[in-house]
Amino acid sequence: MPALTYGHDKLEVHSRPIPGTGEELPMVGLGNSRVFQEGNLEATRELLELFMSYGGSYVDTLGPSRFTVASVMQAHSLQSRLFLGTYLGTVQYDAMVEELERVLKAQGKEMLDLVLTYDFSEILAEPERYLRLREAGLTRYLGVARHKLEFHEPMMQLMEMGVVDFVQVNYSLLEPEAGDTVLPMAQEKGVAILVNRAFVNGDYFEVVRDRELPEWAAEFDCDSWAQFSLKFILSHPAVTCVLTETANPDHLVDNMAAGMGRLPDEPTRQRMLELVQSFA
Ligand SMILES: NC(=O)c1ccc[n+]([C@@H]2O[C@H](COP(=O)([O-])OP(=O)(O)OC[C@H]3O[C@@H](n4cnc5c(N)ncnc54)[C@H](OP(=O)(O)O)[C@@H]3O)[C@@H](O)[C@H]2O)c1
Repeated sequence: MPALTYGHDKLEVHSRPIPGTGEELPMVGLGNSRVFQEGNLEATRELLELFMSYGGSYVDTLGPSRFTVASVMQAHSLQSRLFLGTYLGTVQYDAMVEELERVLKAQGKEMLDLVLTYDFSEILAEPERYLRLREAGLTRYLGVARHKLEFHEPMMQLMEMGVVDFVQVNYSLLEPEAGDTVLPMAQEKGVAILVNRAFVNGDYFEVVRDRELPEWAAEFDCDSWAQFSLKFILSHPAVTCVLTETANPDHLVDNMAAGMGRLPDEPTRQRMLELVQSFA
């Protein structure tokens, strides 16, 4: 396992409480990695093992990845260590139940942790259909997930309606808009926030390429550009967990380090934003 070149006493990411229940969730999560999508069980096991060795728990699973991760979880009895986000692939109630029961059986958990949907129009039109999934004991939490600005407004509508426990939204140094809208509302309404596109699907690394990390990044225990982005995100008080997508173990270790040590204060956050936006 790559060593952390990092001076922390405890090599585990910090956790944040899920609003509403207080259940603790480690604040750096894993996105829907290519190795899960490819169904590579051995590579999935290795990535999850490394992730958990740094205290990681949240994994976002979509499509076939739901069964790859579930199968590794079941084979190694990891049910109490992993908190899985499961995306729905359908919208009709009976079909959703059938789909979720299949995933649940594959996971070997008593209940799914979190069910996510992309389908805002359906959930806005008929929230009861989704709420019934939780009432039926299929899942502990319900949420929506999108990665574009145009969905911020309906996300806020759903929070206002009290339908969701979790919202997954794009938020970063290059896409900071949710920080003034979706995130403050989540804090006010007691909704957990998962952040996607921490690296704008890799574009962020093009923007910071060949740039020197500023010396003042050391003031908040940051020693890479990846951590610079993740620590900006995590220092927003509404954020429960940031997702990082990687298939590279060195990148995973780098990303987990962002959930350790100090975070930037508000004036430093503004400085970070100005710096990266000046590169873009
Ligand atoms: N619900 C939605 O609408 C939605 C949409 C998009 C994403 N998501 C979720 O959010 C997750 C994140 O996806 P994203 O598109 O937002 O990706 P991202 O995490 O912003 O970027 C991933 C890219 O960054 C690279 N990377 C990761 N860590 C790195 C590091 N430490 N140093 C250098 N490069 C690094 C990865 O390459 P390597 O593999 O080489 O590390 C990959 O190319 C997804 O997996 C998914 O679970 C949800």
